[in-house]
Amino acid sequence: MSAMTVITADQLSSPDVIANPYPYYRELREHSPVNYMFLQAGAVAGASEPVRAWALMKYTDVYSALRNHDTFISHHSLAGKIAPRLALIQDDPPRHTRFRRLVNKAFTLKRIETLIPWITNVANELLDEMTPLEEDVMQAYAIPLPIKIIARLLGIPGEDYIKLKRWSDTFLAFSSMTPEERALSNQEMMAYFGRMASTRRAQGAEDLITALVEAEVEGESLDDSEIIGFCMLVLIAGNETTTNLIGNMLGILADRPELWRQLQKDRSLVDTVIEETLRYESPFQRLSRQTTREVELSGVKIPKDSLVTIYYGAANRDPDEFPAPDEFRLDRDLRNHVAFGAGIHYCLGAPLARVEAQITMHAFLDRFPVLARGTAPSVRQSTSLVVFGYQSLPLALGKA
Ligand code: HEM
Repeated sequence: MSAMTVITADQLSSPDVIANPYPYYRELREHSPVNYMFLQAGAVAGASEPVRAWALMKYTDVYSALRNHDTFISHHSLAGKIAPRLALIQDDPPRHTRFRRLVNKAFTLKRIETLIPWITNVANELLDEMTPLEEDVMQAYAIPLPIKIIARLLGIPGEDYIKLKRWSDTFLAFSSMTPEERALSNQEMMAYFGRMASTRRAQGAEDLITALVEAEVEGESLDDSEIIGFCMLVLIAGNETTTNLIGNMLGILADRPELWRQLQKDRSLVDTVIEETLRYESPFQRLSRQTTREVELSGVKIPKDSLVTIYYGAANRDPDEFPAPDEFRLDRDLRNHVAFGAGIHYCLGAPLARVEAQITMHAFLDRFPVLARGTAPSVRQSTSLVVFGYQSLPLALGKA
C-alpha cells in the first residue's frame, strides 16, 4: 500500500489488511475507537446484515478493556455462531474463574518443563530433514512443531497430528470455506476429543487430558463437554499462534543479518528478540468482546451491547506506549506488550510458546551461521482474521 492510500474502517476485515495490517492501523489508530464492518452479510449463518463492531487500536483503550472484564465480556453475541463456542476464552466469571482454576491445576509449568528434552528432539528432527539451500520454513518447521507438541501434550497418537492440523485450520478459516464445511470439521473434532476423554476416564495416561479428567478444586471437577471444549481451545489457541511467532521471528531475523551475527555471539539476547517479535509482529491480532453498559473510551461513547474488537497488534505499535513503534529494537521495556493479552484471560500457554520459541532460536543458531530470505517470494496468510503470519517463508540456510 502506498503512503497516499486512504482506507476506511470497513476494509479492516479484507484479505489485504489481514496480510499486512500495520499501515492501516497507523492510519486508523488516532480515530480509534472506530466503528467498522467486522463481517460481511452471510458470514454468520442466518445473518442477512453485515456485523459491525468497534475497533480498539490505542494501547490505553485495549489495556483498559482487557482489565475491565465486567464491562467488556468475552461471552459475546457471536460466540458459538461462526464456530463452536470456546470454553474459557469465551467465558466470563464465575464460570471462567472456576474453569481457569481447574485447568491451572492440569496445565502446569512442571508439565511444560518435562517436555523440554522432547521438544528439542522434535525441533532437531525437523531441521535434519531440511535442505540448506532453500526451504519453506513454515511447511518444514513452524507448522509441524507446535502441532506435534500439542498432540503430545494432550496425549494424542503421533499419526493423528495431521487431523488436528486440519481441524485447527478449518476452525480459523473464515473466508476460504463454507459454513457447512466448517461445521462438519468441527463436529469431527468434538467427537474425537469426546472419545479421548472417555478413554482416559476408563484408563489414565501421562497426559493433559488425564490431568483434566482428574483435576479437582474444592470438590469440583470438569465434565466431558468441558474437557472437549478445553482440548479444542488448546488446539486452536496454541497451534497457529505459535507457528506464527516462530515464522515471524525467522522472517525478521532473515532481514537483519547483523542481528543474526550478534545473536551467534551473545545468546543472552534470545529472550529479548522473542519478546520484541511478539510486540512488533503480534501473532494474535484481534479478538471480540461485548459491552455490558455504555462506556466512553478516548472520548468516544460505545453503546451497551456493542461488539468490540481488541486489536492486540495495533496496541503493540502505539507510539504513545512504544516510541518509534515501527522499529524492531532490543533496547525497549517490553514488559507491557499485550501480545498474550492481560487480565483474567492472560494466555495460559505463554510459557509453552516462549519455550518453543527459545528452543527454535537455539537450534537454528547452532546450525546456521547465515539466515537469509530465499529466492522464492514469501506469502503472508490472508484468510484468518485472528492471526498474523506467513503462509510460506522460503529461507536460505547457510550451514556451518
Ligand atoms: C505465540 C503464541 C501465543 C499467542 C500470541 C497467544 C495469545 C493469546 C492471547 C492474546 C490470549 C488472550 C485472549 C483474550 O484476551 O481473551 C490468549 C489466551 C489463551 N491462550 Fe494463548 N497464545 C499463544 C500460545 C498459546 C499456547 C501454546 C496455548 C496452549 C497450549 C495457549 C492457550 C491459551 C488459552 C487456554 C487461553 C485462554 C485463557 C483464558 O481465557 O483464561 N496459547 N492467548
